[in-house]
Amino acid sequence: MQKTLQHIGIIMDGNGRWAKKRFMPRVFGHIKGANTLKKIVEHCNHIGLKHLTVFAFGRENWQRPEEEVSLLMKLMLKKLNKEIDELHNKNAKIQFIGDRSRLNPELLQAILLAEDITKHNNGLNFNICLDYSGQHDIVQAINTIIKEGKHKQITESILESYLYTEGMPNPELIIRTSGEARLSNFMVWQSAYSELYFTNTFWPDFKPNELDCAIAWYNNRERRFGQTSEQLKDKE
Ligand code: FPP
Repeated sequence: MQKTLQHIGIIMDGNGRWAKKRFMPRVFGHIKGANTLKKIVEHCNHIGLKHLTVFAFGRENWQRPEEEVSLLMKLMLKKLNKEIDELHNKNAKIQFIGDRSRLNPELLQAILLAEDITKHNNGLNFNICLDYSGQHDIVQAINTIIKEGKHKQITESILESYLYTEGMPNPELIIRTSGEARLSNFMVWQSAYSELYFTNTFWPDFKPNELDCAIAWYNNRERRFGQTSEQLKDKE
């Protein structure tokens, strides 16, 4: 892995279609998707990645059938309770990103506990976006700034310090599975210079070796940040 790759964001898409193809209920895809996530987190830990952020539930996902939403929340609670000790033993620091006000109390309790137990760990920073929307994050940041009344004018770095992702590097690589080529409100601010990797693989089928392929693809990208190729070569 190249040094410049510190943060990978993943939009874990295609659980429903994966299940449908197998004539199974959508929730079966989410269960398989959660197993995939476990393997990917283990792999990220293994390769020494510093930050992994996954999109588990968007603000817009509340509009899904009530039964699916409820099963997804139950699945997250179950997985969190099951995996927390192992993640802690592996030195991972867990953080949930998003609006916590609508989460059920039991899940919120488990989240607070997981974050507290792992807060001093310095291995993989594993961030889970839950009730998250990138645009909403920017709005909540601006509202907090207005309420505090400390800043007459804001800069990029001031705004960044009020986002849920405060203190994290921006993701250099964002992966979306299932053939969709859009960000769907994931890290809209933080993705300004991200390399975007789209694959047709449905999330439940996404394997660690495909993550390696995405990283290899990233390592071959020329990251110019507004400069020309020639300018970059001169600096080498
Ligand atoms: C998108 O697939 C996936 C989700 C909305 C849920 C992602 C959740 C998990 C992988 C499960 C567990 C997460 C944790 C943190 C334990 P989709 O349902 O939109 O698929 P579709 O586009 O094929 O319908």
